[in-house]
Amino acid sequence: MSARLGRVGIIGCGNIAEAYAKKLTALPDVELAACADLLPERAEALAKAHGIPRALPVDALLADPAIDVVVNLTVPLAHTATSRAAIDAGKHVYSEKPLGIDLGEGRALAEAATAAGVRLGCAPDTFLGAGLQTCRKLIDDGAIGEPVAAVGFMHSPGPEGWHPGPEIFYQRGAGPMFDMGPYYLTALVTLLGPARRVTASARRTHDERTIGAEARRGERIPVEVPTHVASVIDFAAGPVATLVTSFDVQGSRHRRIEIQGTEGTLAVPDPNTFGGRVQLFRRGERSFEDVPLTHANAEQARGLGLLDLMLAERHGRPHRASGDLALHVLELMESSIRSSETGAHVTLDSSCARPAPIPAGLADDDFGDEGTG
Ligand SMILES: NC(=O)c1ccc[n+]([C@@H]2O[C@H](COP(=O)([O-])OP(=O)(O)OC[C@H]3O[C@@H](n4cnc5c(N)ncnc54)[C@H](O)[C@@H]3O)[C@@H](O)[C@H]2O)c1
Repeated sequence: MSARLGRVGIIGCGNIAEAYAKKLTALPDVELAACADLLPERAEALAKAHGIPRALPVDALLADPAIDVVVNLTVPLAHTATSRAAIDAGKHVYSEKPLGIDLGEGRALAEAATAAGVRLGCAPDTFLGAGLQTCRKLIDDGAIGEPVAAVGFMHSPGPEGWHPGPEIFYQRGAGPMFDMGPYYLTALVTLLGPARRVTASARRTHDERTIGAEARRGERIPVEVPTHVASVIDFAAGPVATLVTSFDVQGSRHRRIEIQGTEGTLAVPDPNTFGGRVQLFRRGERSFEDVPLTHANAEQARGLGLLDLMLAERHGRPHRASGDLALHVLELMESSIRSSETGAHVTLDSSCARPAPIPAGLADDDFGDEGTG
């Protein structure tokens, strides 16, 4: 890259903002120009820690004509309102997951971005990492034949054992499906293509959970959402996936994601990481074999999807971590819960194009765009 890609402003300077600030300040052609938070001291602390020139009030960041792209790292409940304000201010937006917690709001957001002629991008961008891109290439190259089925297991005992403020994980817009589901569903959709319908059964195992973190040990918090969701997803191209997202499992030996095809099975690494171990079981063999990673970006690189969005804008191509993909994932999450409530399959309205694969053998942060070297 040689020419400046644009100026970025972060809104929401909490935990994950650290990873973004680290990544963005290391990219020579991206200028992390400002940050903002409802709590000014958080914006000031992030600016100080990473040499960001300005810590601003949220409105001032949105009104600043020098900011080209807003990175929305607020809490899920504030995602659509913050992204909408940025779109209305004429800026491209890249949001943390989920796109929103309500499908109607998500749809309105995507429509507003299209009408305004700005780009809408959304995390997770882990599917751009070495692990999932290697899996994508193996599937596209026919290593497992025709994909028939997939399984995904996000088994966890829930975050209240260690997290100092775990109530947000048990409120509307969270639970295992909305908090962790985006990683699993985004991986499945990018590997298998869009889904066409979903059915699920969900349960809320406890009315309250008990905090284990030192500062608030023993405090009880209410649970508003299902904490164990078992979904069956039909993909438009034919595969049937079984996905379990749970905060109710103390221990498990199940793999995170497997894609099972007519000629073999692919063991996919943790979709909440960029690298990981890829393994392949070929028809007629007796065991899984390790497959070397064919792609770059194996280290933690949150912000990679934003870089892709900025390069896409420069080169006039679609960006990969797109609003359409995130909207489809949001519909899958919401529809899983609705299916359990209504006892019926839900046919999805949305679809999305499978994001273009990254060519193998490139360096970190390179998407193969011409003229960016
Ligand atoms: N923490 C992680 O490891 C992690 C990993 C991946 C993704 N995420 C996602 O990133 C997002 C942020 O998570 P986090 O852990 O950093 O949360 P956090 O609570 O640590 O930080 C969120 C920040 O947003 C600010 N904020 C809330 N509403 C706002 C608004 N309307 N305007 C401006 N600022 C506002 C809060 O004051 C806070 O500083 C979430 O969507 C989460 O799902 C978090």
